Amino acid sequence: MNRIFSKMMVLNLAIVLFTALALSLLLSFLFTRYFYREYGRNLEEALQEATVLAAKHFAGRTSRSGFERGLKLIDRLEGVHFWLLDPQGRLLFTTAPDLEIFPKPGFADQVIACLRQGRMYARVLTDPKDPSLDLMVAATSLPEGALVGFFPVADVKEPLKESIGLVWLAAVGAFALGAVPTYFVARHFSYPLVLLSRVARRMGQGDFGARVELKRRDEIGDLAAAFNAMAQQLESLDKERQAFLANVSHELRTPLTSIRGFIQGILDGTIAPPDQPAYLARVFGEVGRLSGIVDELLTLARLRGGRLRFHWERLNPTAVLDAVVEMLTPLAAEKKVKIDFAAVGDQRELWADRGRLAQIFTNILDNAVKFSPEGGKVEVNACWDAQGWRVTIGDEGPGIPPGDIPYIFDRFYTGSLSARESPGTGLGLAISKLLVEEHGGTISVRNRPRGGCEFTVFLPAAFEPSCPASRGKGEIGGEGK
Ligand SMILES: Nc1ncnc2c1ncn2[C@@H]1O[C@H](COP(=O)(O)OP(=O)(O)O)[C@@H](O)[C@H]1O
Ligand SMILES: [Mg+2]
Repeated sequence: MNRIFSKMMVLNLAIVLFTALALSLLLSFLFTRYFYREYGRNLEEALQEATVLAAKHFAGRTSRSGFERGLKLIDRLEGVHFWLLDPQGRLLFTTAPDLEIFPKPGFADQVIACLRQGRMYARVLTDPKDPSLDLMVAATSLPEGALVGFFPVADVKEPLKESIGLVWLAAVGAFALGAVPTYFVARHFSYPLVLLSRVARRMGQGDFGARVELKRRDEIGDLAAAFNAMAQQLESLDKERQAFLANVSHELRTPLTSIRGFIQGILDGTIAPPDQPAYLARVFGEVGRLSGIVDELLTLARLRGGRLRFHWERLNPTAVLDAVVEMLTPLAAEKKVKIDFAAVGDQRELWADRGRLAQIFTNILDNAVKFSPEGGKVEVNACWDAQGWRVTIGDEGPGIPPGDIPYIFDRFYTGSLSARESPGTGLGLAISKLLVEEHGGTISVRNRPRGGCEFTVFLPAAFEPSCPASRGKGEIGGEGK
């Protein structure tokens, strides 16, 4: 079920309901108060009019019957009944002979006593047995006795009830009307979450192509965009992983197929015994290539997982480069390729792993020799400057197609040229780049105007390994754990 949606619905409706209830209660209270006040004022005015009449009568300006007629007229016009009391509290005259004041002995005495103390008499009398008999009462004293006015509240209760009924009807209406926007608000906020969880579930099942289709310019839109960016990244990682696996399988399969073919030929006699040593030598070469690939894969996996241990030491990098050049010179000589090595500047030291540094330059120089034409020249220049140590390795080979330059340091990138020479795995430069970065440096390549390409490696003098304590404990050369 759409749980966020129902929660939001219930919560919002509760808020609407509470607001409507509170407002209705307040309005009912205000209405009631207003009604009582209005009718209270009415009663007072009627009483005042009657008092004026009484004053005239007691001054002898009107007859008794005229006075009584006046009181009856006010009664008819204003709905206020009168009692005329003598100073002892006895009823002298009433405009409503059948007005029942609930049996409350001493009511008249109370009124007289109150007025005698000079106090106003005004209150609401309630009959606990029959609320419809509620009376608003006010009294004034006369030269002789008192005049009491009654206003039956029952008369006002009906319109009051009607008004309050309207208030509650409005509250119910507001609640019903509030449900509509509440529905849309709840949908507006819960729908993206439903979408997100749906897509997340699909991604969990391996479908990395799923995206959240949501265009909003708020935080939810940002979340959806971030989610899609993450999905994009996962998708490309997944593709990369699949391509990597395909590449690895392919790289391992080729040498394995030829090894298998040669051995089968030897076993079933297709390869005559005199030819066998030559084939075995090729098998040996392929096995060497295989273990080279496995070594490279391991190095790469460890580098990417941050698990490759380094043997950090302060060393003179020029000496390491010199040793690599010396090691590769015989190989180059076989191809009649000449390696020119020039180092300028002082013999400063920096933090490096001797074996890894040699691996970097072996990869680059090996490529340079491999891609050099017969009789070509490889130029190696090393120099120090204020920032660090810079090495350029240039060759006279075919260079790199400009479109390929961005991919040259990718895993398994072998371009279109490598097949010509001894087949490569495309892992050398990827490893070299990661190793250079572990040394805090950079590696780049460009085509030289006069032909061939030139790799530049820069190692900063200020670099400090994050854990030089591992110095002396790391592995040297091979890939042992
Ligand atoms: N000096 C170079 N001249 C021309 N192309 C090069 C050179 N060095 C590297 N490349 C290109 O870069 C690719 C990747 O090199 P690398 O990672 O060392 O793999 P591999 O040497 O096994 O092919 C090579 O296959 C080649 O296409
Ligand atoms: Mg290589």
